[in-house]
Amino acid sequence: MPEQKTWFITGANRGLGAAIATAALNAGHRVAATARNPETVTAALGDSPNLLALPLDITDDAQADAAVAAAVDRFGSIDVLVNNAGYGQLGVFEETSMSLIRKQFDTNTFGTMNITRAALPTMRAQGAGHIFTITSISGTVGVVGSGTYSASKFAVEGWMESLALELAPFGISATIVEPGYFKTDFLDTSSVAYGDIVVDAYAEESAQFRRSQDEMNHQQVGDPAKLAAALLTLAEIDTPPLRFTAGADAVHVVGEIVLPKRQSDLDTWRDLSSSLA
Ligand SMILES: NC(=O)c1ccc[n+]([C@@H]2O[C@H](COP(=O)([O-])OP(=O)(O)OC[C@H]3O[C@@H](n4cnc5c(N)ncnc54)[C@H](OP(=O)(O)O)[C@@H]3O)[C@@H](O)[C@H]2O)c1
Repeated sequence: MPEQKTWFITGANRGLGAAIATAALNAGHRVAATARNPETVTAALGDSPNLLALPLDITDDAQADAAVAAAVDRFGSIDVLVNNAGYGQLGVFEETSMSLIRKQFDTNTFGTMNITRAALPTMRAQGAGHIFTITSISGTVGVVGSGTYSASKFAVEGWMESLALELAPFGISATIVEPGYFKTDFLDTSSVAYGDIVVDAYAEESAQFRRSQDEMNHQQVGDPAKLAAALLTLAEIDTPPLRFTAGADAVHVVGEIVLPKRQSDLDTWRDLSSSLA
């Protein structure tokens, strides 16, 4: 039986967050499960003495501080922070207004930083902790229709890489989790957003993209419970990875497309790239 830890999870009322909270509770851990509406946490997870449901919109600095304080007050520590809350702002760039792009970054990027900033003093004082941040396979590669979402997740990946180095001396680990397609509400109209500008030149492409995403809604192959179990495994090891690619589809994209393309561009242009001094 692993040591009982306190998990602090954002967006814990549905999807991956609810699955991770459920797995942590079932393993006997204490869970501060946060959501914009905490009643939806209790509705999803039930009642347990190890569960504390807290209100948290991750874009709200004051709520982030208050949620961390309430979790520490109740459980005495935050051992594992799971930055899970987020959504997909999909659609081609020219059909997406700057206000929607800013909103995407406010949640996926700055919101994730917000809650991490709130939790770090507790973890540093403990001299221990593990931060999981759920990015996406879209945090490793850009494809048509996901530039805004990808940008918000690529930004988080760069930040997490630096953070991992900054926090290692304090005994705090950081792991980027890059899921492929998992069966959640991610592509449901209750979560996903599309562009708000119509540019006729993209009409056909946009319609086809939207159809393909709608068809995939709730049909994704990835099992949130299995991803949750994987995180519980990673939380128990001494030297967790910086990156964990989640799902066979994501492994294929990183292994067969992202890394080979990067290596091939580097090799093809090595001489010119290296001749600039
Ligand atoms: N499912 C996939 O295929 C997939 C693939 C790659 C990455 N991801 C990432 O996985 C994470 C979880 O998504 P999911 O698949 O579980 O989708 P989901 O079922 O739509 O759940 C999204 C969660 O994020 C919460 N959320 C959104 N904005 C928030 C905010 N400002 N403050 C607090 N909570 C907020 C939602 O809360 P409400 O209920 O209040 O809306 C909900 O709990 C996201 O970061 C997503 O980008 C998912």
